[in-house]
Amino acid sequence: MRGKRILLGITGSIAAYKSAVLVRLLIKAGAEVRVVMSESAKDFITPLTFSVLSKQPVITSSHKPDTGEWNNHVDAGLWADAFILAPASANTLAKMANGISDNHLLTCYLSARCPVFIAPAMDLDMFNHPAVKANLQKLASFKNHHIISTTEGELASGLFGEGRMEEPEKIFGILEDFFFINLPLRGMKALVTAGPTYEAIDPVRFIGNRSSGKMGFAIAEELSKRGATVKLITGPSNLSLNDHAVERTNVKSADEMYSACMKNFEEMDIIVMSAAVADYKPGETSNEKIVKKNNLLSLSLIPTIDILKSMGERKKVNQLLVGFALETNDELNHAKEKLGNKNLDIIVLNSLNDEGAGFEISTNKVTIIERSGREHSYDKKPKEEVARDLVDVLMDTIKK
Ligand code: CTP
Repeated sequence: MRGKRILLGITGSIAAYKSAVLVRLLIKAGAEVRVVMSESAKDFITPLTFSVLSKQPVITSSHKPDTGEWNNHVDAGLWADAFILAPASANTLAKMANGISDNHLLTCYLSARCPVFIAPAMDLDMFNHPAVKANLQKLASFKNHHIISTTEGELASGLFGEGRMEEPEKIFGILEDFFFINLPLRGMKALVTAGPTYEAIDPVRFIGNRSSGKMGFAIAEELSKRGATVKLITGPSNLSLNDHAVERTNVKSADEMYSACMKNFEEMDIIVMSAAVADYKPGETSNEKIVKKNNLLSLSLIPTIDILKSMGERKKVNQLLVGFALETNDELNHAKEKLGNKNLDIIVLNSLNDEGAGFEISTNKVTIIERSGREHSYDKKPKEEVARDLVDVLMDTIKK
């Protein structure tokens, strides 16, 4: 659940105490949780409990009482990856089914575009009332709405029967399955590198390149979308990740990228080296700014460690290693040589001769070559789509 954003709506029911456990489970699993409570929910449990557990202020009304500032329900609705209503009282169910929005929780619900999970909780006869049944049926028919069945047992009234809210552990499991069960790369760990490296000449100058990081960021997000747990190691880049589940590490130089990669390499199932790592670095880095003189200045450069090659040497049979090759002449042959020399499973070839391929642009034109020699050539397309093509080929390779 790492990085998933959960908006939890709590309404007036004794089962509200169980939602405290649900928040704890979600937070422990790495989700971000924001809680919105109806007025009557506060009669059963305090907002303070949820604010401590979620580490976020709890929203109970459309404005902040002290400053009068608006609590933006649209933002909350758009922020969430899932809206969970637990416990959902008969009153709130009726309002949701009919589009009534007379409190803040309901305005959040009506603004949410994400999947909605509803965990009803009420007494046996209320639950069996045809009006409640009809409301639940109506809600179940709405797009992206999921009703979490109630369980049977002793109710607050002392009666025995259906209407108890499902246990928090079960609700957590339902959410986990919803997000991850059908994802093909679930359980796999992936390491992606991106961006340029900066090799310091002195405290203010460096040797770098024009890589933006776009390709690597897109690959990291695509792998994550398909269920992998992704670590992104990136050189200096202005980009930010949309997917909060991807864990980002920033590095500057090739040496730093090497250390960060090697720290994680062993446990990875998939490694994609899309960073434009400098091949050379200054033999010496001056501790002070080099001052201008009127004679020739020479820099001696020494090779950096080839990170991809080191990985290829250590690779185990169950690890899939992907490299990139940026070529200007005899492109296919050079790329195939790199694939063999560096012991890769897949190499992605960019040719600088192709318009719309390479650095600083949002498109790329690639040929993906598998170890078996199979080639896949694509038209120029946005880097997000190139990432999709690459992950498709990568998944085919895993299946073989
Ligand atoms: N790479 C690396 N470490 C380096 C240099 C490159 O891991 N020090 C990786 C890149 O991330 C890329 C691949 O190697 O996945 C190919 O980089 P490229 O510069 O095209 O190939 P080189 O082997 O460096 O060969 P050349 O520059 O001579 O073409």
